[in-house]
Amino acid sequence: MPTKQALSIVVLISGSGSNLQAIIDAIESQQLNAEIKAVISNQPEAYGLIRASKAGIKTHTLNHRDYNDRESFDQALIKLIDQHQPDYVVLAGFMRILTENFVTHYQYRMLNIHPSLLPEFRGLNTHQRAIDAGRSEHGVSIHFVTNELDSGPMVIQAMVKVETSDTAETLADKVHQQEHIIYPMVIQWLAEQRLKFINEHLVFDQQSLRKPLIWDNAHLMNPNS
Ligand code: GAR
Repeated sequence: MPTKQALSIVVLISGSGSNLQAIIDAIESQQLNAEIKAVISNQPEAYGLIRASKAGIKTHTLNHRDYNDRESFDQALIKLIDQHQPDYVVLAGFMRILTENFVTHYQYRMLNIHPSLLPEFRGLNTHQRAIDAGRSEHGVSIHFVTNELDSGPMVIQAMVKVETSDTAETLADKVHQQEHIIYPMVIQWLAEQRLKFINEHLVFDQQSLRKPLIWDNAHLMNPNS
C-alpha cells in the first residue's frame, strides 16, 4: 500500500528545543507522519541546533543581530524558509516578534506554542505571572499565528494544576510535559488533514473550531460538539 506523503515542516527555534525534540521523536517512532526540512534558529548557541544535527536535520542560523531592522531580518527568514517549500512553519520557542509581512506570508500555515492559557499571560515569564496572580490552573496553548502577539485561531489548550509549592521552574516542567504531547499530536492532525482551514475557518474533524480543544488528564475534549 502506498504510504501517504509526509507533511513537510520547517521548525523555528531560539533555545533548548525540547519541543523540537518531541517532534523529532514522534517522527522517529512513526506517530507523526512529517518531515522536518530544516531547523532555523536566530540564536547561534541554541541547543536545539545540536538536537537537529544529531537527528540528521539540516540547520541554519540566522542571527537577528546581523540585520538592521525587523523587516530585513524577516525578509531574509522568508527567503530561507521558502527554499525548503514547507507545507507548514512550526514555531517552537521562537522568541521573536514577527512583522506583519512575515505573518501574512504564512497565513494559515504557521503554528505557535505558547506557555499559558491564552488569552491570559501573553509575552514572557508566563509561569511566574500565573503563580503571582494566584491561578490554580495554568497551561499551554497551540494556535495559528496572526499579527497580534501570542494570538490567533486557537487549536488546543492543555491544563496543569498549580500547587502552592510550585515555583516557576516546577510549573515550567509540568507545562513542558504537556507541550511535548500536544505539539506532535496537532502536527499529525495537519498531516492527516483532520485540522485545516476551510474558507478562513479553522475546522477539526469537519467541525468548526470556535473554542479550542482541551487536553486534560490525557483526554481530548471538544467543547464545540
Ligand atoms: C516553550 O515552553 C514554548 O511554549 C515557549 O518557549 C518554550 C520553548 O521551549 N514559547 C513561547 O514562549 C512563545 N511565546 P523549548 O525550546 O524547550 O521547546
